[in-house]
Amino acid sequence: MRLKITVLPGDGIGPEVCREAVRILRVLNAFYNCELEICEKPVGGAAIRATGSPLPESTLEACMESDAVLLGAVGSPDFDNLSREQRPEAGLLQLRTALGGFANLRPAVSFKAIADCSPLRRTRVEGADVLIVRELLGGLYFAEPRGFGEDSDSAYNTMRYSVEEIERIARVAFDEARMRRRKVTSVDKANVLETSQLWRRTVTEVGKAYPDVKLEHMYVDACAMHLISNPTRFDVILTENLFGDILSDEAAAITGSLGMLASATVGGETNLYEPVHGSAPDIAGKGIANPLGAIASVAMLLRHSAGMHHEAADLETAIQQVLNAGHRTADIAGDGVQHVTSTREMGELVEHAFVAMLDRRFSYHAV
Ligand code: NAD
Ligand code: IPM
Ligand code: MN
Repeated sequence: MRLKITVLPGDGIGPEVCREAVRILRVLNAFYNCELEICEKPVGGAAIRATGSPLPESTLEACMESDAVLLGAVGSPDFDNLSREQRPEAGLLQLRTALGGFANLRPAVSFKAIADCSPLRRTRVEGADVLIVRELLGGLYFAEPRGFGEDSDSAYNTMRYSVEEIERIARVAFDEARMRRRKVTSVDKANVLETSQLWRRTVTEVGKAYPDVKLEHMYVDACAMHLISNPTRFDVILTENLFGDILSDEAAAITGSLGMLASATVGGETNLYEPVHGSAPDIAGKGIANPLGAIASVAMLLRHSAGMHHEAADLETAIQQVLNAGHRTADIAGDGVQHVTSTREMGELVEHAFVAMLDRRFSYHAV
């Protein structure tokens, strides 16, 4: 098998965590008769510096010709004063549109070994395993009209959804729920917004084709509260773009750190894999970022773009083994940890654990 992967390290800690994710990808070439062709391209602030554009033509072309795209993070305080279209974030949003993936899957799982890193009580988070299915190409992020008023003393954005956009994301959520605990919580603001009323009506219709999946509706404000007071009550959370952005960062509190969260964007021409976190300018360049969100994004890539389901599960187990053995980057160190693991060390530890698992898998096949 041949798999062409374009890696977009981006800004801040993006390149630091991507390096470790790529380390894991390279492991696969050693074991399989497959060739992972990895090419790196600039995006975001790094691309603005190199070419003047946050998404240069050659980056977009490489991504469109790939089987999967892996992105670190974009964004830099250096460019915070640029207009919206010129900012690093605009490059990511253009890329998402071009790749066409409308379903952003953001799992948040509480691992036993680091449950005490959560600001929430262990008894609350233990066993939590939530999948946020975030609509990624619509809503306030993209709808027109948008802009500033003539004298710039007002501004406006448009929240717009069509039935078709809601149906397709709802189907993804119900399909995912069927592979899990068969419960979908659809999150909206139907007590105030017309888009949410359409959302609720459409999701209810789609749900009729999934009688085996329990559907509930919840307002987004209440969801924000339930998510941290009783995260185990959720299985799949289905929601629109902006609500999903906010709730997924909040869900990081369940795992203990934003650095733990991975994501996959599916449903388009080419899938996009990225950790949920941003470029973290406050810790960039120090070698202390947590690469596990980026590495877990590789597991999602193996599952959704390479059909390597066993290997994806092995990689997730490798991450847990490393955590079980007590290794901690600074964000999940807590009190009393003797040695704080660097970004690179964490990548190497997971690599070794993953290689050991693949070794075992291969020796089974050999006998
Ligand atoms: P952020 O996610 O970069 O950081 C929030 C906090 O979490 C910071 O304290 C940071 O140190 C910490 N953190 C994040 N990732 C971590 C990791 N892997 N290991 C340890 N700690 C980690 O959010 P922000 O500070 O609000 O945004 C910074 C920039 O990133 C902005 O320009 C923003 O637009 C951009 N951003 C990009 C993406 C993306 O590329 N997908 C996502 C979110 C934010
Ligand atoms: C995310 C980020 C992006 C978003 C930004 C950087 C455009 O916050 O992936 O969560 O809002 O979607
Ligand atoms: Mn976000």
